Amino acid sequence: MVFYNLVILFSLLMVITSARRFGVHGLSMIYYGMRCPLAENIVRDTVNNALQSDPTLAAGLLRMHFHDCFIEGCDGSVLLDSTKDNTAEKDSPANLSLRGYEIIDDAKQQIENQCPGVVSCADILAMAARDAVFWAGGPVYDIPTGRKDGRRSKIEDTRNLPAPFFNSSELITMFGQHGFSVQEMVVLSGAHTLGVARCSSFKNRLTKFDSTHDTDPALDSGFAAKLSKTCTAGDNAEAPFDETRNSFDNAYFNALQKKAGLLTSDQTLFASARTRNIVNSYAMNEAKFFFEFQQAMVKMGLLDVKEGKAGEVRLDCRKIN
Ligand code: HEM
Repeated sequence: MVFYNLVILFSLLMVITSARRFGVHGLSMIYYGMRCPLAENIVRDTVNNALQSDPTLAAGLLRMHFHDCFIEGCDGSVLLDSTKDNTAEKDSPANLSLRGYEIIDDAKQQIENQCPGVVSCADILAMAARDAVFWAGGPVYDIPTGRKDGRRSKIEDTRNLPAPFFNSSELITMFGQHGFSVQEMVVLSGAHTLGVARCSSFKNRLTKFDSTHDTDPALDSGFAAKLSKTCTAGDNAEAPFDETRNSFDNAYFNALQKKAGLLTSDQTLFASARTRNIVNSYAMNEAKFFFEFQQAMVKMGLLDVKEGKAGEVRLDCRKIN
């Protein structure tokens, strides 16, 4: 146990040290310790209460943090509402199915009542995603805080989100541009152990796939038939990524091995020789998946973080001050 804790501590130090490459100096594990000691508890309680009434929102919070970090860094830009002069990230087609904004608003309001103008929306979102993973049965981990909120949120920036039809080379390139290794890209994709996708994200795999195939040959035919049936209800019908949509486990990687990956970008991780062994290792060893997932999440949470005057602490997560 002591050894395991030491390994975690060491890994965390490595991630934070390597974060210096990302220009992150001012974040800390005890940032709110004196400034707003109840912040972490408020976020945790708010997330737990919300997930108790709707467990599917764990997926929403996790995905929202990812979409925040990949665009303009983890700066809460995804939380900003559009204004009459600006269409914000959240109104991009890639973000229309994001869920859980009201949980962030709720936590923010309670925190503002305790310590006004201190805790950023970007930090609240990072903590909420972390707490959602744990609530769903995933690993528990600490994250550094002290992120500032950004002032830019533009629909056109969301073109830098990965598309569901990407193959493994395209995923490797895009995640590589953000400083992630192939292994980190695969382990982060394991977030698809939670949640669902809508038919609009995968229906291209079910009919007229290419000139020689009706359905995607990487897809198990029984699973394809099941999906086709689901999608008779229309583009917004949903299918889970794995058989345990509200549990954070390694069932997603087992599904890929059975050719039951929902998106092209999921199944490609098993189909491609560059990533298959990594998928197999997580399918076989859940503890390895959990450990490497938490490391990659801490790293993702440090992407292009804003500090000092580069950002602000928004008073309302939906509006710049
Ligand atoms: C590897 C590239 C990725 C692609 C192409 C991708 C794409 C998608 C798509 C298309 C959906 C379904 C959207 C819909 O149909 O409404 C989705 C859902 C989801 N994504 Fe990803 N994603 C990727 C990586 C990630 C990462 C790194 C995370 C988090 C760390 C993440 C977390 C989620 C979650 C939790 C859901 C389910 C959301 C819900 O049920 O509301 N994804 N993703």
